[in-house]
Amino acid sequence: MARVMRAVAVAGAAARGGRPEPGPPRHFLDVNQYSTGELRDILDLGIAYKSGRRRDRPLDGKTLALIFEKPSTRTRVSFEVAMRQLGGDTIVLGTADSQLGRGETIADTARVLSRYVDAIMIRTNEASKLDDMARHATVPVINGLTDASHPCQIMADVMTLEEKKGALRDQIVAWSGDGNNVAASWIHAAVRFGFELRLACPEPLQPPAPLVDWARREGGRVSLTVAPEEAVSGADCVVTDTWVSMGAEAGVNRHNLLMPYQVNEALMARAKPDAIFMHCLPAKRGEEVTAGVIDGPQSVVWDEAENRLHVQKGILAWCLG
Ligand code: CP
Ligand code: NVA
Repeated sequence: MARVMRAVAVAGAAARGGRPEPGPPRHFLDVNQYSTGELRDILDLGIAYKSGRRRDRPLDGKTLALIFEKPSTRTRVSFEVAMRQLGGDTIVLGTADSQLGRGETIADTARVLSRYVDAIMIRTNEASKLDDMARHATVPVINGLTDASHPCQIMADVMTLEEKKGALRDQIVAWSGDGNNVAASWIHAAVRFGFELRLACPEPLQPPAPLVDWARREGGRVSLTVAPEEAVSGADCVVTDTWVSMGAEAGVNRHNLLMPYQVNEALMARAKPDAIFMHCLPAKRGEEVTAGVIDGPQSVVWDEAENRLHVQKGILAWCLG
């Protein structure tokens, strides 16, 4: 869709005989909104920066605004460092220290920021706020996490999976835990990159049914079960995430529901012997994962966290290049 709109903008200007108007901005909103080829380009850019094959600073003189309506360690620091290493700069805005906290609309914020900065990353709760930002900004908007998805994280996870295990199409990934925003982005990625994804989630915490239906319609190899042993059996990669996402209600019921989905040594032993363990972090040892697993030899969580930096260079260069 975005590509069609870009083509129309350029063709329209050419027909008028003038200089082509800049097309609509190239946002990075959700993995399912881009083709496999576009996503591959982003990954390859990130890999090229990581390996040192690319050493250019394409964002020289550019500024990224980072809006955080929820806390962050990795997303904030990796975007700030990525921008600086690519030659650009950043401005961080929180809800409390900007007019967003006093009710200025996302649409007005988008219009104003677009006059100052070259791109906007936003971490927020409702996905509709991200959509508003993208609709009203005239510069690229990047999704830094919403209650519905976390695409930058999943691009780093896919990069890590490929780095550690090889061809993505050959991999079986098992998710055990809450069917949350990160699980949703794994579903998008499974469809676009062609790996098998088996999700084990308690019934009340399963990913949204329309999302699973979409994955099936697209021909994705995505399955859903309530049995973690079934999902993990023979997997190449086991993934989980916090039981209580930012903004979710912690409670005894939630913990009781999720306890059988804990990734512990016994569950990990059902995966392939050389399976890796991934977690987007922050983690709670003793809840969704045991210390033995996350700090053990199969865990690749620190490489995964590092890849946030590399893949975000790919995303920034793709959006702004
Ligand atoms: N994984 C992740 O997005 O971490 P932060 O919340 O620290 O940014
Ligand atoms: N599911 C988690 C991811 C944190 C990076 C949350 O939304 O809090």
